[in-house]
Amino acid sequence: MATSVKQWMDKETGMINSSIFADEQIYQQELEKIFGRAWLFIGHVSLIPNPNDFFLTYMGEDPVILTRDAKGELHAFLNMCRHRGNRIVRADDGNAKNFMCAYHGWTYSNDGRLVSVPGLQEAYYGELDVDNLGLVPVAHLETYAGFVFATWAEDAPSLKDYMGDVRYYLDIRYNSTDNGSQLQGPVKWMAPFNWKVPVENASHDMYHVGVSHLSASIVQARFRNQPLRNRGEERFSTPGQRQVHAGNGHSLTANVREEGTFRRVLQGATNDGRAEAYEKSMLDEAIRRLGHYRATRISGGGSLFPNKWLGPNLAFPRGPLKTEMWVFNMTDVDMPQDLKDDIRLRQLTSASHPAGLLLQDDMDNWRSVTDSGRTPMTRRWGQRLSMGIGHEESVPGYPGLEVAAACSEAGQRGYIARWEEFMNAESWADIHIDPITAPFEGTATM
Ligand code: FES
Ligand code: FE
Repeated sequence: MATSVKQWMDKETGMINSSIFADEQIYQQELEKIFGRAWLFIGHVSLIPNPNDFFLTYMGEDPVILTRDAKGELHAFLNMCRHRGNRIVRADDGNAKNFMCAYHGWTYSNDGRLVSVPGLQEAYYGELDVDNLGLVPVAHLETYAGFVFATWAEDAPSLKDYMGDVRYYLDIRYNSTDNGSQLQGPVKWMAPFNWKVPVENASHDMYHVGVSHLSASIVQARFRNQPLRNRGEERFSTPGQRQVHAGNGHSLTANVREEGTFRRVLQGATNDGRAEAYEKSMLDEAIRRLGHYRATRISGGGSLFPNKWLGPNLAFPRGPLKTEMWVFNMTDVDMPQDLKDDIRLRQLTSASHPAGLLLQDDMDNWRSVTDSGRTPMTRRWGQRLSMGIGHEESVPGYPGLEVAAACSEAGQRGYIARWEEFMNAESWADIHIDPITAPFEGTATM
């Protein structure tokens, strides 16, 4: 059991203590209590398609090598030499059977074994315990729809239980085709805000869209030949659109269309008929995999606790006031090449790309929200996630723990409450798992 319970969010009022975004001690605890035990998205099988491919990634601040060994098996290791702690891999990605530490030359195979130590007989007198000095592996590694997740916690639940009902929604974009998706990138940059702020925003703040992004949305709608949505008062009456806290800290906005209207999932593509033609050509496959309702009626996007924000994108902690942001371009393996090219180019203007019009609005706000936890008077008054408290309900067709109006802060409260639960827990024994309640149909699995 947790020995002392700290409260950073008042669940009755939705008031949160701003110091969670700026305090150095809280930050150091997060690295252990959140990133040392949660299931973390660390890569995708398409980033390491061939035997001996590797991809450099992170779990919190800890550097991690994701490898595919010569037999095709996936592994994830701490990127740390067992001699003096040097990082053994410096390249972002590549193909290598072995990794040689550049300091003294200890060499590891891509399945983690220590295979060569200079001076093993001459200098170590054959006394080094080579068999127990391989690379440090993660405790568990699992995949969901080609996305690779890992955890350092031996006692973690399965990835399926960790995800819970959010998989019902994620399947719609990530798991609707037999051949799956492929990722490119990531584009990486450093940003001056706390890592939780973009994830909480993606959990899923629809309230800001019509204000923060109004001018950018007007430009973007014209550029993409799409109608302008979510502006002004329209934000508060969006039929079919609801915020869902799916449980376990994972939240999103779900859109449910009327039966018989076409549901377009690929929002990032040019509105010239190509994406629609592709999606229609894949519809039978999607129905087989997801069932009729999910394949034809719903779309949506949001966050995955603790650090996946919007699409397949990541926010890595780099100090309380600094975040390393990663965005990937994602397409389906089955898409025609011209549609893949279109999505890659259009992603440059998307909501999650640093060169896009929208994220510039967001990042300025996120920096300022973070800074309110830094100074004494701004900290004294706290921040407010009170919208819609007590108005969450159970709505048929939207599985999840709390279902709210599109403009609500239920999802963000769910995210911060999960963070607080992790921060107060001694181990996974103190962390609850919401039961899976969604009516999964179709043949798609993990
Ligand atoms: Fe790696 Fe010495 S630190 S071989
Ligand atoms: Fe935004």
